Amino acid sequence: MDLIQIKGGNFLEGEINISGSKNASLPMVIASLLTKDKVIIRNIPNLSDVSTLLELIETLGSEFELKNENNSSYKLIIQTKKIKNNLASYNLVRKMRASFWVLAPLILRYGEAKVSLPGGCAIGIRPINFYLSMLEKMGALITIKDGYVQASVRNNLKPINYKLDFPSVGVTHFFLMMSSLIEGESILRNAAMEPEVISLAKMLNKMGAHITGHGTNKIIVKGCSYLKGLDIISPPDRIEAGTYALALAATGGKLKLNSISIREIETLRYLLENTDVNIKSHKNSIELIKKNRIIQPTDIETKPYPGFPTDLQAQFMALMTYSKGRSRIKETIFENRFMHVQELVRLGAKIELQSDTAIVDGVKKLYGAPLMATDLRASASLIIAALRAEGTSTIRRVYHLDRGFDKIEEKLKSCGAAIERKRDKNE
Ligand code: UD1
Repeated sequence: MDLIQIKGGNFLEGEINISGSKNASLPMVIASLLTKDKVIIRNIPNLSDVSTLLELIETLGSEFELKNENNSSYKLIIQTKKIKNNLASYNLVRKMRASFWVLAPLILRYGEAKVSLPGGCAIGIRPINFYLSMLEKMGALITIKDGYVQASVRNNLKPINYKLDFPSVGVTHFFLMMSSLIEGESILRNAAMEPEVISLAKMLNKMGAHITGHGTNKIIVKGCSYLKGLDIISPPDRIEAGTYALALAATGGKLKLNSISIREIETLRYLLENTDVNIKSHKNSIELIKKNRIIQPTDIETKPYPGFPTDLQAQFMALMTYSKGRSRIKETIFENRFMHVQELVRLGAKIELQSDTAIVDGVKKLYGAPLMATDLRASASLIIAALRAEGTSTIRRVYHLDRGFDKIEEKLKSCGAAIERKRDKNE
């Protein structure tokens, strides 16, 4: 296994090409299974989550080819003429929760599905009750047996008028895929409004679906009987861009983020400016300049879009460990998304947990230490903290990082960070 070693203290200066979005690409790849035609998705990021998903859909009957288009993106050509197998095994679904969404194309095209329950994960319990109640209302028969959701369709599936108790991103994706191929008008209220939902809806519309209201909390879908192939580009990764912006805020320096516009990280803009990051916005790039190393303490609360994203909470906390006062960071989406706290404390951070809130008292310095990555975004938070810490940090279990950050050490190194990936001799 690999580890990442960082000698802290350097400013960041240079350019970073932002990769395609993980959170948008995964549902788009699954949506490609809704048609028997060829689908091309460009700007696919080079991540282990993408490989895991491709491994799964290959077992379902998809054929694909991944072509390197430029250094940071791939073109995925994918075709699923026939769904040959309706089983999504525990081995593959447990590695990545997004795999669970294959339930939609399996039910719609095969009529029956057996998909492993995804289980909890490091950041929380992550139930699937909304998926199941939605499917039942659509007319599917559901049983849960041996750790698998088994769903079958006896008569035709029917359109639904459904209100979510919470604007779940995953369930909104699932609704879009299902209702696009269920004839009649389906309505989802209290829908998620995340940009990734908009990307998926746009893709389905290009495939022939009739979706309106995406990007608002009420989505209306007029289902059709057939979806066709398309050629589409996955959007840039707003979480990756936000992570580099927060790293720059911590270290100081000058970064240009390419292939992304400020609109994509609008929720972060005010927070960056509040801590003296000067932002120059261009059509397809963002320049960030931070001349000093003073960090203003800031309270945040994670919220569904357009609120502060839970996927940037850990990285923001790393920045706040260096602030000149007290910040309160409240996590409202997942109940256990504070695993990075104990690792940040190992660097010398002062953080106290009070149920869903971390009270962070900024310190002047953190000191390099051996660290353990606990989940995907937590790994990025450790990198940010270590980039400014005095001395050397080693971060183990970086396979978490490879799930969602494309060549992070190469990108940071090209901007002056003293960061290396090495084989872990102790494993
Ligand atoms: C969530 C994030 C998304 C992020 C992703 C990966 C939100 C709203 N969603 O999406 O931005 O990219 O994690 O970190 O910030 N829930 C239920 N029952 C269900 C489904 C969900 O109770 O059937 C609850 C979850 O436990 C959670 C909340 O709804 O508390 C949000 O979950 P959801 O948006 O579905 O999670 P993801 O789709 O994984």
